[in-house]
Amino acid sequence: MVDILYQSKYFNSRNASAGVKVMFEGFANVWTPVALSSRLKVQKTLSVVLAGEPLALFRDARGEVGALIDRCPHRGVKLSLGQVTPDGCLECPFHAWRFDKEGRVCEVPLNPDAKRERLFANAVPARDIGGLIWVFTALGARAPNEPTVPDGLTHPDYAKTYLQVDWKAHWTRAMENMLDSPHVPFLHRKTIGRFVRPKLKPGSRMDIVWEETPYGGRTHAGVDGDFTGGAYLDFYKPNVMVLNIPVPGKVFRMHAVCVPKNAQETSMIVVGTRSFATLALLNPFFNRNNMKIVLEDQAVVESSFPVEIPPAAQEKSVRTDKATLQFRRYYYEQLKNASAPVQLSHGPVAAYEALHAGVD
Ligand code: FES
Ligand SMILES: [Fe+2]
Repeated sequence: MVDILYQSKYFNSRNASAGVKVMFEGFANVWTPVALSSRLKVQKTLSVVLAGEPLALFRDARGEVGALIDRCPHRGVKLSLGQVTPDGCLECPFHAWRFDKEGRVCEVPLNPDAKRERLFANAVPARDIGGLIWVFTALGARAPNEPTVPDGLTHPDYAKTYLQVDWKAHWTRAMENMLDSPHVPFLHRKTIGRFVRPKLKPGSRMDIVWEETPYGGRTHAGVDGDFTGGAYLDFYKPNVMVLNIPVPGKVFRMHAVCVPKNAQETSMIVVGTRSFATLALLNPFFNRNNMKIVLEDQAVVESSFPVEIPPAAQEKSVRTDKATLQFRRYYYEQLKNASAPVQLSHGPVAAYEALHAGVD
């Protein structure tokens, strides 16, 4: 049944390895941020692309968010070109069909007798948490769980800064870069790396510790056996990194989210969090520093070849690649090669029924 569904005319689908068509290929059934909350205004839409699928995000008058596959089920136009109605639906710009956040049709103008239960759009679960819009990469308005959100994003007393830039890179290369400690003293020699460089001597050795955690993993780096620096990285599956920068008695973190757009592009979201110097006036200063680091990484990571991280055996690795190899294993075992069917709920099931029932 799944095969039939994903070969149907209702879906923007591409070939997966087994010949079964899936959505969000290589990134299915996970929660991910897709955009800064500030970009989605009240009663407006926002068009984004996530893992090859176009999404229409929208926000109603009460601030609630919804996400539909950005294709009207009637004649295939972009729903994100439409408008949000006072009752919180997204209205298609073409013939004004109205869809709620679960994809149900609320109104079909000029067709009071239309069988509306057959005329739904495809919804994906959406949330607005910690200054980010999150979606779950499977069809259906319900998700099996809620996103795991790093507490630095939601803490009410921390100052926060936000930036989003597009990289011409596969998200897996961007993600590995964020989990990679040994590049810091070299690529970032003029920014964050300058604090590490004084510790390095000729013949210095870096050790990487990786600990599994319920949300992913935590990695520390030590130089010549010294782990007292206090910096560590948290990896939240599938695509969030939190760098904890040691400031005595304070919290200072950088969150990096590598959002896959398609095979060549990643949207990099960076949220800075701090418990000190919380004056909003200082935000541009902190955000500028984060932007400098992001640009240093971008300039190099965009040159990666092959574009997507290959299986570990196809590149040469050393001891200090421990954390990135953990990510590579996770990607190949759980995301890339997993037979992760798109979760089914009322939408696709109804699509199947509609397909076999013909049109009104
Ligand atoms: S194309 Fe959307 S209502 Fe006709
Ligand atoms: Fe970096």
